Amino acid sequence: MKTATKPSVKRKLIVANWKMHFTTHKASLYLHKLSEKIATHKDVEVVLAPNMLSLQSLGMQVKHRQFKLAAQNCYWRDEGAFTGEVSATMLHGLVDYVIIGHSERRYVFSETEKDIRMKVQAVLRNKMSPVLCVGETAHQRADGETLHVLHDQVVSGLANVTGEEVARMVIAYEPVWAINSSNSKTHKAATPEDFAVAEKEIRKQVASLYGKSASEAIRVIYGGSVNADNARGFLSQEGCDGLLPGTASLNSEEFLKIVESAHDNKGRDKAGK
Ligand code: PGA
Repeated sequence: MKTATKPSVKRKLIVANWKMHFTTHKASLYLHKLSEKIATHKDVEVVLAPNMLSLQSLGMQVKHRQFKLAAQNCYWRDEGAFTGEVSATMLHGLVDYVIIGHSERRYVFSETEKDIRMKVQAVLRNKMSPVLCVGETAHQRADGETLHVLHDQVVSGLANVTGEEVARMVIAYEPVWAINSSNSKTHKAATPEDFAVAEKEIRKQVASLYGKSASEAIRVIYGGSVNADNARGFLSQEGCDGLLPGTASLNSEEFLKIVESAHDNKGRDKAGK
């Protein structure tokens, strides 16, 4: 078994996935607005994932005690003849996190488990933290395949990851059927109970590969139609280390409410509720 080192204190992690929204100019204006209004809390880590093109300029603008940055993707080779790609090596120093295996990458851009595994390793090799997205499609759910899918995606995504590295990782449970519900009548958010089932399965797989302390150290977060109204429900689940909002993160008022829910939840934990 590969052993893991446990990080000291777990803060709630809120990762705003802006997807392919905001020009560089708009991203900069939006960041300005957010940083004027956001309160910094020791118990909440706020991460912004803009498009690749905006990373450099936001990196210069961002106040690092307020926000960290994430890339939405990267390529797994460090350099070479790979037209159109950006490597993890190139992102080093610019971002702390890289989202890997998002369902839009898996299903719109046909990324395979091998691509995802290689990308996870590239991010870790370049000293950043991967946010590995896993989750079942509506069909897989209807067929009762959810736990098998999670098992396979977690085991494959963590292949060749060491015990030290796994503690730096984040796994996001993002059921494909729950993503982007505001744009589709067929989609709806998962429930906190759905998350709890998935989270237990994810930690169970991590425990079987790396041991109990690794399964407690790794951060497991929820994504899929998170908004200001449902955020608290997920964050109150024991074992929910944060959220990955997409659509809701594009609205500053709503995003700030989500961040505040993460802070409030921590307060409630301490009060023993
Ligand atoms: P959504 O996106 O919040 O718009 O569903 C989340 C995601 O895809 O990461």
